[in-house]
Amino acid sequence: MLDDLRPCVGAEIVDGKSLAMSIQSEVAEGVTEFTSRGVKPHLAVVIAGDDQASHVYVRNKERACQKCGIMSTKIEMPTTANLDEIIEVVESLNSDPSVHGILVQSPAPDGVDELQIASSILPQKDVDGFHPINLGRLVQGYSDGLLPCTPSGVMSILESTGVELEGSRAVVLGRSRIVGMPMSLMLAQKGSDATVTIVHSRTSEIESICREADILVAAVGSAHMVGPGWVKPGAFVVDVGISRTEGGLAGDVSPDVSEVAGWLTPVPGGVGPMTIAMLMKNTLAAAEMQVS
Ligand code: GUN
Repeated sequence: MLDDLRPCVGAEIVDGKSLAMSIQSEVAEGVTEFTSRGVKPHLAVVIAGDDQASHVYVRNKERACQKCGIMSTKIEMPTTANLDEIIEVVESLNSDPSVHGILVQSPAPDGVDELQIASSILPQKDVDGFHPINLGRLVQGYSDGLLPCTPSGVMSILESTGVELEGSRAVVLGRSRIVGMPMSLMLAQKGSDATVTIVHSRTSEIESICREADILVAAVGSAHMVGPGWVKPGAFVVDVGISRTEGGLAGDVSPDVSEVAGWLTPVPGGVGPMTIAMLMKNTLAAAEMQVS
């Protein structure tokens, strides 16, 4: 168990940013090798509307592409864009052989069904890993292929610290399609072998369940919701949440959890950069799948 591994002397803050940079360097090497065959990996990002945070995220993705040698194209659409118009753009990217990865930035404009957008992207170009075929492969136990970037990034963070998952108790706070659900599957799948509990807004005694976790992944988007009383001494706490507050960016985990946890991922500088690194990895993998 983790509390045997890590004495409680204040959490080690896990540097997601430097891990992400080293993964991006590996991707850049792969891209160089791939490009020598005459084709450059190419990511297309569709963004509809003027949500400022989304524009910042998209800019960060473009920068990462530049660093890795991946070509990127941004397609901007107005806030008034409807489902049919977005799907029309996706379909033209699906049939463009020079595009290997397609991502439609969330949130979509009000009233636009993101599930239908996810289903419209060709599975082999679905670098977000949200297409039902890619999520279905994860349920079937495949750990290769295009998997959702944020939970993949969390798995990579856990691996990098050498923490033992087999036999551990993991609690995932949040049941979203993008993070909570795929995260739970990855932690439970063969090879990871954690015993996973998912808790959410309707769970009773949520705090005491979280306190049993060796690995606690918080992914609800509620600033500083997880306090020290939610955390088992020595636990590995992964903070996926990111909220804008008057005091700046805040994770789901209160900073004083660092006095109880064994490991803690910071916000910013923890999971966020890893999500982008995994997107770069998926884009290269998608290009490799499509160009033989
Ligand atoms: N918005 C916030 N995170 C993500 C993500 O991982 N993918 C997409 N498409 N949109 C997002």
